Amino acid sequence: MKFQGMTGKFTEANVKALVVAVFKGEKAANDGLKEFDKLTGGLVAEVMKSEEFKGDAGQTALLRFNPRGKVKASRLLLVGMGSRSDAKPSSIAVLSGTATRFLRQRNIRSFALLARSDAPAIEVAQNAVQGFITSQFELDKYRTKDKNDKSVTTLMVCVDGGDPADLKNGIARGQAIGESINFTRDLANEPPNILTPTEMARRAKEMAKEMGLKCDILDEATMVKMGMGSLMSVSIGSEQPAKLIYLRYDPAASTGAPGELLALVGKGITFDTGGISLKPGEGMDAMKYDMSGGATVLGTMRALALLKPTVPVIGVVAAVENMPDGKASRPSDVVTAMNGKTIEILNTDAEGRLILADAVHYAEKQGATRIVDMATLTGAVIIALGDQNTGIMGNDQEFVDELIRCAADAGEGFWQLPVSPEYSKQIKSDIADIKNIGPRGKAGTIMGAVFIQEFVDKAKWAHLDIAGTAWADSAKPHQAKGPTGVAIRSLINLVERSQ
Ligand code: BES
Ligand code: MN
Ligand code: ZN
Repeated sequence: MKFQGMTGKFTEANVKALVVAVFKGEKAANDGLKEFDKLTGGLVAEVMKSEEFKGDAGQTALLRFNPRGKVKASRLLLVGMGSRSDAKPSSIAVLSGTATRFLRQRNIRSFALLARSDAPAIEVAQNAVQGFITSQFELDKYRTKDKNDKSVTTLMVCVDGGDPADLKNGIARGQAIGESINFTRDLANEPPNILTPTEMARRAKEMAKEMGLKCDILDEATMVKMGMGSLMSVSIGSEQPAKLIYLRYDPAASTGAPGELLALVGKGITFDTGGISLKPGEGMDAMKYDMSGGATVLGTMRALALLKPTVPVIGVVAAVENMPDGKASRPSDVVTAMNGKTIEILNTDAEGRLILADAVHYAEKQGATRIVDMATLTGAVIIALGDQNTGIMGNDQEFVDELIRCAADAGEGFWQLPVSPEYSKQIKSDIADIKNIGPRGKAGTIMGAVFIQEFVDKAKWAHLDIAGTAWADSAKPHQAKGPTGVAIRSLINLVERSQ
């Protein structure tokens, strides 16, 4: 792939197509469109008058014209942005992705992009490149034929009057983020016979080595010795040994508040059968993505290693398989977590919270003062919020608010649910400290959160339930169906804003 910044005359780019953002309700005579209307002999005005194209978000219109003068491209692709007042820098990623997928389908392998945004050049370039890269991810890794082998290989990002150094920087950032999102999506898409906990740990180690991150893998014997009885109770029914993946990014020179340490903690259930509380067969295949939270941690740490923020960040992934077996945990078993709390396991399918209990405690033991855990934790969050918003809950309102802002600026939706003490009472057990489920059919997503909260001591903590947002059931103009890599851009914002 080739990326180039352009600060001069956009129309003269040596590419197959020019791509221009068009806002809803605009006139072809508007500044920024006029030039293209002229270039195409009035085609822009025509198509905009024809009701065929109104600038709605995701709409496209491809125009062919005879290039003249120094103009090399012979196609103009108009991409609808929706209303101008809703447009954000992150909309440029959607614009770029929509154009890329549209042109790729037509074997057009290069384009120049004019976003018509007043965002800083660095943000325009970053979003354009990230959208270009993430839009070309496909699910068909294991096909031997009929693979999607088309690709757009060249993107020129144009910012009139932009500083070339800013463009270059933005391109590098967009590449780091886009490739890291795809790294996460590739992991989430892997079949569970291939991506076992051991393989997930191996890939983490390989990535860490390549990116210069510190990486430790804890094996089961170590976890048992450390008292991780909650995590181990999930792994015990599987032939595949669990791995606790620990990653650390340290800046060359830190500017963060001394003693502050952010931890990203992920649920890495490589397959969730439900255990002895076995899931129904229908749709169980979807549970290969139950390691998406862990994959998000790995992808975010990868991006951070490249972006080099000036604050340290650690990543913890509990990679575990949840299987039924003669040795598997039974509903009514009682186990002791690393923090000493006893848990009555009433449903072995509520396993994500069991592994996160020990993982968040471990993160705090490593010195974390702020923790974000992410997990495909509950079916209930899909009922509540669908696939548009990630459920967010936490013990510190300012921290939650900050994360919600970081998400909005990344073009992602985080929606808060309450975790008041009344809810915590509902997971009190008759025979142990807590039980791993709440009352049937009531506030399932919150019950997961208040359970995890029991294992956070002093740290500020937020929990992201990404069960609805980590997988897209259908393709979008800018994105294939399948794993989305949700939350990575929001978390990068969080880290970069704490510098
Ligand atoms: N991994 C599932 C959550 C899930 C379900 C994600 C459906 C995506 C789609 C989780 O481990 C689980 O099984 N949760 C149970 C909890 C219940 C037993 C309290 C659920 O949501 O049904
Ligand atoms: Mn489960
Ligand atoms: Zn699960």
